[in-house]
Amino acid sequence: MIKTKIVELKAGQKEIDADLIQEAADILLRGGLVVFPTETVYGLGGNATDPMAAEKIYAAKGRPADNPLIIHIADPSDAERYTVTSTLYYRLAKAFMPGPLTVVMPVRETIPKTVTAGLPTVAVRCPLHHTARALIRAAGVPIAAPSANLSGSPSPTCCAHVIDDMQGRVDMILDGGESEIGLESTIVKIEDDNSVTLLRPGAITPKDLEKVCDKVYIAPAVLNALKPGEIVLSPGMKYKHYAPKVPFFLLSGAPEKCVSYLADQTGNYAVLCYEEDIPLYSAMLSCQLIAVGKKSEPDILAHRLFYTLREADKQGFSALYAPLPRPEGLGLALYNRMIRAAAHHIITL
Ligand code: TXA
Ligand code: MG
Repeated sequence: MIKTKIVELKAGQKEIDADLIQEAADILLRGGLVVFPTETVYGLGGNATDPMAAEKIYAAKGRPADNPLIIHIADPSDAERYTVTSTLYYRLAKAFMPGPLTVVMPVRETIPKTVTAGLPTVAVRCPLHHTARALIRAAGVPIAAPSANLSGSPSPTCCAHVIDDMQGRVDMILDGGESEIGLESTIVKIEDDNSVTLLRPGAITPKDLEKVCDKVYIAPAVLNALKPGEIVLSPGMKYKHYAPKVPFFLLSGAPEKCVSYLADQTGNYAVLCYEEDIPLYSAMLSCQLIAVGKKSEPDILAHRLFYTLREADKQGFSALYAPLPRPEGLGLALYNRMIRAAAHHIITL
């Protein structure tokens, strides 16, 4: 057990406490671990140029060491020192950085093999969150950071959930309030000067990416379960992910059909429910309804999904149900996370 220092940053604070950030940066430079807020989810950070720091990150998460880490940089051009960039990288950077986009490119020797799990590529992200940026700048090195959850659990989107998983495992936790987006970054691999492969969908959608490059291929594992022995483009895709302990089921069908299916279920279950369906659901069901915004507001479901999955475990529900989102726009990222969280249990009505 490590003694973890937890510090609260004032919500929405634009002025950064420079002493605090320097203290966190010094921890990183001494080889320690700091959890920090980003606009997507919280990150479990270590010095990306220190081979031992990556080992510590894997140990703190209980993560297999063959699942590589994203390196976080303060400015898109910092990628030059760690990767072989390209004109498409700079087009993507101009359009989406800083922000929730991670780009996979050939790695240089400046990044240790423990960070890339020995792959010839490295994933680079330039976050928007002011605390994340200030921390990277103060450290003067890129920060290797996976999501700050124990391996297999949903990514943390608030400090309480970080503390649940990481207290005693890291040196410091910076509490920046709720993560704005609530889903991890979009990951793309650059294929050539006009095409990328989408490895993980996020707030930056295929349509957004198409504004910058001609072809956006979608890796098969984004939408489907992996077949046994299938080769994955991104090692993280092969692990069971985001799963709550409560059995989680997705319902595909009209709200009327979902509600009559649910009415036949027993036990103390809960349902994620769009605002427009609440009158119907509450008239027919006595279970707990968890409001997730309107169907036209997928950003609200994105913001609340991981939070809700973790809280559902704490409440001891017998099961959790949710409507299966359409895999379009931000819905693609929701679909991708929800089919994994539900271990592909989709009930078609
Ligand atoms: O929003 C995010 O991306 C958050 C915040 C903290 O920045 N980070 C995050 O990291 O989600 P992590 O480690 O939980 O997920 C990174 C994913 C993993 O599935 C990993 O397999 C994949 O990125 N990845 C990392 N390096 C890769 C590479 N060189 N090639 C392909 N996939 C890679
Ligand atoms: Mg993760």
